[in-house]
Amino acid sequence: MASVPTIALNNGVEIPQLGFGVFQIPPADTVKATTTALEVGYRHIDTAQMYGNEREVGIAVRESGIDRDEIFVTSKLNNNRLERDEILRSFDQSLGDLGLDQLDLFLIHWPLPGVSDFVARWKVMEEIYADGRVRAIGVSNFQPHHLSTLFAATEVRPAVNQIEVHPYLTQDDVRAFDAEHQIVTEAWAPIAKGKVADDAVIQGIAKQVGKTPAQVTLRWHVQRGDVVFPKSVTRSRVEENFDIFDFELDESAMAAISGLNRDERTGPNPDEFNYVPG
Ligand SMILES: NC(=O)c1ccc[n+]([C@@H]2O[C@H](COP(=O)([O-])OP(=O)(O)OC[C@H]3O[C@@H](n4cnc5c(N)ncnc54)[C@H](OP(=O)(O)O)[C@@H]3O)[C@@H](O)[C@H]2O)c1
Repeated sequence: MASVPTIALNNGVEIPQLGFGVFQIPPADTVKATTTALEVGYRHIDTAQMYGNEREVGIAVRESGIDRDEIFVTSKLNNNRLERDEILRSFDQSLGDLGLDQLDLFLIHWPLPGVSDFVARWKVMEEIYADGRVRAIGVSNFQPHHLSTLFAATEVRPAVNQIEVHPYLTQDDVRAFDAEHQIVTEAWAPIAKGKVADDAVIQGIAKQVGKTPAQVTLRWHVQRGDVVFPKSVTRSRVEENFDIFDFELDESAMAAISGLNRDERTGPNPDEFNYVPG
């Protein structure tokens, strides 16, 4: 099986282009699922404080026997950590729960425009970065206007912007803005929560290239240059989603998949989402 390519972030840190997402994997299932992913060959895990499974991700990483510097671990600041002290404390807690000395990437999970000043939160992220306990910092669910506000008021450019992207939400504007500012786009819900499996256009392409609809869709993301981390608790799918580096989609297949865009989100609109957990 071919190896996973990496992409250089704007500070030179290399991120594997394919990872494993653990959103909605209950803590009781997370050690097993993450261990499976590491056995299959994934070396990049995407978790978050909000997912409640950092501790279990940490157990799987530490018990895998794989060198720490071979595994890229991302976490995200929860929406209820708004003040400087809470942010610093929660970062310490993430490191403690994961059982790591250093995180690879830490993101602001949502901009929360109606709740809090994301610029102030970003300045605390910059402090954490300056400390050396995280190799890169970034944002998630930021629209171009949020990023412009950030650029005008802060020093460090986000290394990544993690946003919802899949064939029904191609996000051409946000991705172009990210690229123009040397920000890597990470695509969440890359297979539209599994919906691509039932898509006739993607099924047709899959048949032509001898792959599955999920594989074709993940390959489309990779060829567009984004980072992806499909989630699955099913071993056969964890294997399937990893096996995407031995074929290529031609221009017409790429265009046909992009043509499925209908600006349809599976999740909230970042301009309207102000959820703060209690
Ligand atoms: N930053 C954010 O706000 C944000 C929001 C959402 C997600 N994320 C990140 O992005 C990751 C991925 O997104 P996601 O989990 O929402 O959605 P996703 O990866 O697009 O889809 C996951 C769903 O697809 C199914 N699936 C997996 N592989 C499949 C395959 N080969 N064929 C058919 N179905 C398949 C899974 O089922 P089984 O598990 O039952 O196999 C699960 O129901 C998350 O885990 C998280 O790390 C970030």
